[in-house]
Amino acid sequence: MNAAEQSRLIAAACDVRLRAYAPFSQFLVGAALQTAGGEIVTGCNVENVSFGLTICAERVAIGTAVAAGQRGFTAIAIASSNGCTPCGACRQVLAEFCPDLPILLVAVDAGNQVTETTLAKLFPGRFDL
Ligand code: THU
Repeated sequence: MNAAEQSRLIAAACDVRLRAYAPFSQFLVGAALQTAGGEIVTGCNVENVSFGLTICAERVAIGTAVAAGQRGFTAIAIASSNGCTPCGACRQVLAEFCPDLPILLVAVDAGNQVTETTLAKLFPGRFDL
Protein backbone atom coordinates (compact mmCIF):
# COMPACT_ATOMS: atom_id res chain seq x y z
CA MET A 1 0.00 0.00 0.00
CA ASN A 2 1.55 3.31 -1.05
CA ALA A 3 1.47 6.57 0.89
CA ALA A 4 -1.37 8.06 -1.16
CA GLU A 5 -3.55 4.97 -0.65
CA GLN A 6 -2.75 5.04 3.05
CA SER A 7 -3.75 8.70 3.37
CA ARG A 8 -6.96 8.08 1.45
CA LEU A 9 -7.89 5.16 3.71
CA ILE A 10 -7.12 7.13 6.87
CA ALA A 11 -9.19 10.08 5.63
CA ALA A 12 -12.12 7.76 4.89
CA ALA A 13 -11.96 6.26 8.40
CA CYS A 14 -11.85 9.72 9.97
CA ASP A 15 -14.76 10.94 7.84
CA VAL A 16 -17.06 8.02 8.59
CA ARG A 17 -16.17 8.22 12.29
CA LEU A 18 -18.05 11.51 12.40
CA ARG A 19 -21.21 9.63 11.44
CA ALA A 20 -20.93 7.20 14.37
CA TYR A 21 -24.06 6.82 16.47
CA ALA A 22 -22.61 6.68 19.97
CA PRO A 23 -24.89 8.61 22.34
CA PHE A 24 -24.16 6.24 25.24
CA SER A 25 -20.37 5.96 25.20
CA GLN A 26 -19.56 9.11 23.20
CA PHE A 27 -16.74 6.97 21.76
CA LEU A 28 -16.80 7.47 18.00
CA VAL A 29 -15.14 4.88 15.78
CA GLY A 30 -14.72 4.83 12.01
CA ALA A 31 -13.39 1.93 9.96
CA ALA A 32 -12.34 1.95 6.32
CA LEU A 33 -11.51 -1.24 4.43
CA GLN A 34 -9.52 -1.21 1.23
CA THR A 35 -10.76 -3.93 -1.08
CA ALA A 36 -8.56 -6.07 -3.29
CA GLY A 37 -9.85 -4.01 -6.22
CA GLY A 38 -8.74 -0.75 -4.61
CA GLU A 39 -12.15 0.45 -3.48
CA ILE A 40 -12.91 1.73 0.00
CA VAL A 41 -15.82 0.49 2.13
CA THR A 42 -16.56 2.18 5.44
CA GLY A 43 -18.44 1.63 8.68
CA CYS A 44 -19.04 3.38 11.98
CA ASN A 45 -20.20 2.11 15.34
CA VAL A 46 -23.95 2.05 15.89
CA GLU A 47 -25.01 1.91 19.53
CA ASN A 48 -28.35 0.91 20.99
CA VAL A 49 -30.18 1.71 24.20
CA SER A 50 -30.05 -2.06 24.78
CA PHE A 51 -26.27 -1.76 25.05
CA GLY A 52 -25.44 -5.32 24.01
CA LEU A 53 -26.94 -4.69 20.58
CA THR A 54 -24.24 -2.17 19.73
CA ILE A 55 -22.36 -2.92 16.51
CA CYS A 56 -18.71 -1.97 16.17
CA ALA A 57 -17.43 0.08 13.25
CA GLU A 58 -15.28 -2.76 11.93
CA ARG A 59 -18.19 -5.19 11.73
CA VAL A 60 -20.40 -2.60 10.03
CA ALA A 61 -17.66 -2.12 7.43
CA ILE A 62 -17.26 -5.87 6.88
CA GLY A 63 -21.02 -6.39 6.56
CA THR A 64 -21.34 -3.50 4.14
CA ALA A 65 -18.47 -4.80 2.02
CA VAL A 66 -19.77 -8.36 1.88
CA ALA A 67 -23.24 -7.14 0.95
CA ALA A 68 -21.62 -5.23 -1.92
CA GLY A 69 -19.92 -8.39 -3.13
CA GLN A 70 -16.47 -7.69 -1.67
CA ARG A 71 -14.61 -10.37 0.28
CA GLY A 72 -10.96 -9.62 -0.33
CA PHE A 73 -9.29 -6.86 1.68
CA THR A 74 -5.79 -5.42 1.66
CA ALA A 75 -5.93 -3.08 4.67
CA ILE A 76 -8.18 -1.48 7.27
CA ALA A 77 -7.87 1.91 8.93
CA ILE A 78 -9.62 2.34 12.28
CA ALA A 79 -10.05 5.87 13.61
CA SER A 80 -10.92 6.66 17.21
CA SER A 81 -10.01 9.33 19.74
CA ASN A 82 -7.14 7.26 21.15
CA GLY A 83 -6.23 4.89 18.31
CA CYS A 84 -7.80 1.86 19.99
CA THR A 85 -7.24 -1.66 18.71
CA PRO A 86 -10.24 -3.67 17.43
CA CYS A 87 -12.18 -5.63 20.06
CA GLY A 88 -11.95 -9.41 20.21
CA ALA A 89 -15.22 -10.00 18.37
CA CYS A 90 -14.11 -7.75 15.51
CA ARG A 91 -10.74 -9.48 15.32
CA GLN A 92 -12.47 -12.81 14.77
CA VAL A 93 -14.80 -11.33 12.14
CA LEU A 94 -11.93 -9.63 10.28
CA ALA A 95 -9.92 -12.88 10.42
CA GLU A 96 -12.72 -14.68 8.59
CA PHE A 97 -11.75 -12.80 5.45
CA CYS A 98 -8.10 -11.85 5.92
CA PRO A 99 -6.17 -13.37 8.86
CA ASP A 100 -3.09 -11.23 8.18
CA LEU A 101 -4.86 -7.97 7.39
CA PRO A 102 -2.64 -4.87 7.70
CA ILE A 103 -4.18 -2.46 10.23
CA LEU A 104 -3.71 1.29 10.59
CA LEU A 105 -4.80 2.60 13.99
CA VAL A 106 -5.52 6.32 13.88
CA ALA A 107 -5.52 8.39 17.07
CA VAL A 108 -7.60 11.42 16.17
CA ASP A 109 -6.93 13.26 19.43
CA ALA A 110 -3.19 12.91 18.81
CA GLY A 111 -3.32 14.70 15.47
CA ASN A 112 -4.22 11.55 13.52
CA GLN A 113 -1.16 9.70 14.77
CA VAL A 114 -0.97 6.34 12.96
CA THR A 115 0.19 3.04 14.43
CA GLU A 116 0.70 0.19 11.99
CA THR A 117 0.04 -3.39 13.00
CA THR A 118 -1.49 -6.54 11.54
CA LEU A 119 -4.35 -8.81 12.47
CA ALA A 120 -1.93 -11.75 12.72
CA LYS A 121 -0.04 -9.88 15.45
CA LEU A 122 -3.17 -8.81 17.34
CA PHE A 123 -5.07 -12.05 16.96
CA PRO A 124 -3.01 -15.24 16.81
CA GLY A 125 -4.80 -18.53 17.26
CA ARG A 126 -8.14 -17.51 15.79
CA PHE A 127 -10.98 -19.98 15.98
CA ASP A 128 -11.38 -22.03 12.84
CA LEU A 129 -13.29 -25.20 12.04
N1 THU B 1 -16.17 0.03 19.33
C1 THU B 1 -15.95 -0.12 18.00
O1 THU B 1 -16.68 0.42 17.16
N2 THU B 1 -14.90 -0.89 17.61
C2 THU B 1 -14.06 -1.54 18.46
O2 THU B 1 -13.21 -2.31 18.02
C3 THU B 1 -14.15 -1.30 19.89
C4 THU B 1 -15.36 -0.58 20.36
C5 THU B 1 -17.30 0.86 19.77
C6 THU B 1 -18.42 0.09 20.39
C7 THU B 1 -19.06 1.15 21.26
O3 THU B 1 -20.00 1.87 20.47
C8 THU B 1 -17.93 2.08 21.63
O4 THU B 1 -16.88 1.78 20.74
C9 THU B 1 -17.45 1.94 23.05
O5 THU B 1 -17.19 0.63 23.37
